[in-house]
Amino acid sequence: MKRRKSVKKNQVTISVIKADIGGYVGHSASHPDILALAERLMDQARADGVVVDFCVTNVGDDLDLIMTHYRGNDSKVIHRLAWDIFMAGTELAKKLKLYGAGQDILKDAFSGNVKGMGPGVAEMTFVERKSEPVIVFAADKCAPGAWNLPVYRIFADPFNTIGLVIDPQMHDGFKFEVHDLYKDRDIVLSCPEQMYDLLVLIGSPENYVIKNVYKKNGEIAAASSTQKLAFIAGRYVGKDDPVLIVRCQSGLPAVGEVLEGFAIPHLVSGWMRGSHYGPLMPVARADATPSRFDGPPRVIGQGFQVNNGKLVGPRDMFADVSFDLARKRANEIADYLRRHGPFEPHRLGLKEMEYTTLPQVLDKLMGRRKRKK
Ligand code: F6R
Ligand code: MG
Ligand code: MG
Repeated sequence: MKRRKSVKKNQVTISVIKADIGGYVGHSASHPDILALAERLMDQARADGVVVDFCVTNVGDDLDLIMTHYRGNDSKVIHRLAWDIFMAGTELAKKLKLYGAGQDILKDAFSGNVKGMGPGVAEMTFVERKSEPVIVFAADKCAPGAWNLPVYRIFADPFNTIGLVIDPQMHDGFKFEVHDLYKDRDIVLSCPEQMYDLLVLIGSPENYVIKNVYKKNGEIAAASSTQKLAFIAGRYVGKDDPVLIVRCQSGLPAVGEVLEGFAIPHLVSGWMRGSHYGPLMPVARADATPSRFDGPPRVIGQGFQVNNGKLVGPRDMFADVSFDLARKRANEIADYLRRHGPFEPHRLGLKEMEYTTLPQVLDKLMGRRKRKK
């Protein structure tokens, strides 16, 4: 297998590339034929040595391709593979007349990287440790800022992660790379020293999103997708439905500390028509089928042991009774919020609604307004 020169031989890359290429029924799930097609094409790619291993999964109407390889982040070969699978899937989705076929495919011609073309991407490259537990989270019906609160809890909050207090390997804390969505720039903040500064930014998840988390020695710990569809398309095209990769254990948060970040279903923007706040409900993959009011928003966690690039797994990490209470709470919160109907703060504030279908209605009502680009 050819490796990129810049990537060291022993550095494995996990690439998670996802797109909504059609929903079944409506925006609630992925069709089994689409998943089977992706599985078949990925299988071929593995046989051809393009990837070392893969896992095809879905959360709601989003198809997630989890891939391992030795080609580094932003590999043209890997991005091309994902793109081709999304194109083939779109064709099939059109044939099946699935809902919103090709929804996240915003550009026609592949130019080397799927970033900026619609699909979401999270990637990380690292030297595989003696044992390498990794969890890939995928969410539906929400924006990339959905990860801010759990990632903060996991890597900076000692009330969530006791390892920050009692594990000498974690006691120094972590560095957070935050992406400014509106100004397209990154800022790195170190915790616990700059914890309050970090919160100034990430407490506003519609504006700032955590992109990467590093150990103080620079080793990657977590990576998320930060692409915002509406900014790429300049209009409403469904929610971004982000993905997140987290490495665990041995100087990083334990698997249980990582999952604990999702034990309280926090409010995220998304849900029906990408226009409402709702609780992010941690669910087993079988329950990743947003239904009530197209939601509430869901997150799945697929766990793997990475073994010489092989993805041993997945284990369905939220398929556990210890998350029953989180789910019950999420449903109660959802029920309460729903009673607000079209009122804020269930409905997003007007600034966030700029990228939904509301401005068209406002235009009609108030006469044409100058629209934000
Ligand atoms: C949210 C989402 C759905 C749709 C809603 C309306 O991300 O995808 O809630 O916004 O079902 O869809 P259309 O406008 O396609 O009928
Ligand atoms: Mg959809
Ligand atoms: Mg979706």
